[in-house]
Amino acid sequence: MKVAVLGAAGGIGQALSLLLKTGLPAGSELSLYDVAPVVPGVAVDLSHIPTDVKVAGFGADELNKALEGSDIVLIPAGMPRKPGMDRADLFNVNAGIIKTLAEGIVASCPKALVGIITNPVNGTVPIVAEVFKKAGTYDAKRVFGITTLDVIRSEAFVAELKGVDVATVKVPVIGGHSGTTILPLLSQVEGVSFTDEEVAALTPRIQNAGTEVVNAKAGGGSATLSMGAAAARFCMSLVKGLQGEEVVDYAYVAVENGDAEYFAHPVRLGKNGVEEILSYGELSAFETKAKNDMLETLKKDIKEGVDFMA
Ligand code: NAD
Ligand code: LMR
Repeated sequence: MKVAVLGAAGGIGQALSLLLKTGLPAGSELSLYDVAPVVPGVAVDLSHIPTDVKVAGFGADELNKALEGSDIVLIPAGMPRKPGMDRADLFNVNAGIIKTLAEGIVASCPKALVGIITNPVNGTVPIVAEVFKKAGTYDAKRVFGITTLDVIRSEAFVAELKGVDVATVKVPVIGGHSGTTILPLLSQVEGVSFTDEEVAALTPRIQNAGTEVVNAKAGGGSATLSMGAAAARFCMSLVKGLQGEEVVDYAYVAVENGDAEYFAHPVRLGKNGVEEILSYGELSAFETKAKNDMLETLKKDIKEGVDFMA
């Protein structure tokens, strides 16, 4: 198994690479790419951890070398938010970065499963898909927007509110990854129930959790450690799928005849990436309204990504 992390010297990249060095199956390779000159040092640092995962670092002009032979590519490269910014404000800077990296994937590992973390995810995933379509290498089953941070936050907040063991909490989160497009399905959490007031308070807390971190870091960036944990967890789901295990996880994927062209759904993962897009089930009246109200924003975000490549 070879996993490449693009943007590996950043806040997310370093946390994620650490978790992959200690968590990937024995015999795996971890390939770290960044334009920041510290990346070879990050690789040397990680290589001193005694696990059977080989680490190599690649600098600015070595993208193709970093990607060659990768089974999974995770992309946390790009600019994070500062207080007062929306994720959409990152589009102009990050769209160009993600396009260049997607072109590298076309050239070096067109069959890899690609997990996109770079914001705004609602728009960067369509950019990657459009680059692959132009090159004739697009396979919708292999492109994922990583929304696991919304899932793990929901688990943490529900456990805290209800005083239950967090290991037992599962919260489906569908839609996109920004503001109201993030839709936690609290009506489907097993073993706990919520009052209308709790749903009305917890839903926006989950939707604005990224801003909670951005404000708390006061100009020092956005979520990096929790995102590193989220991306590592999603990567392990992809790895298990590639190894032939049946896994269901949530991700922002291309959906035919769905609510929008891209929408986070539960997906069954396997050797080819998405084996099946599963239904998100029945929504409560609150969730149905929240979904209908946010679709216009989500579709606009998607269109911005598609138009960037047109
Ligand atoms: P960071 O500034 O700490 O790190 C970004 C890294 O990307 C830097 O090391 C930088 O050198 C590198 N980079 C920039 N251009 C590059 C290029 N062309 N090729 C390779 N590397 C390049 O930022 P961060 O906190 O790690 O956040 C990274 C991105 O992830 C941001 O866009 C942020 O908004 C996003 N994010 C997404 C989620 C999510 O849930 N999907 C969560 C948190 C952050
Ligand atoms: C998050 O949800 O924490 C990330 O998308 C980063 C951000 O800008 O909020």
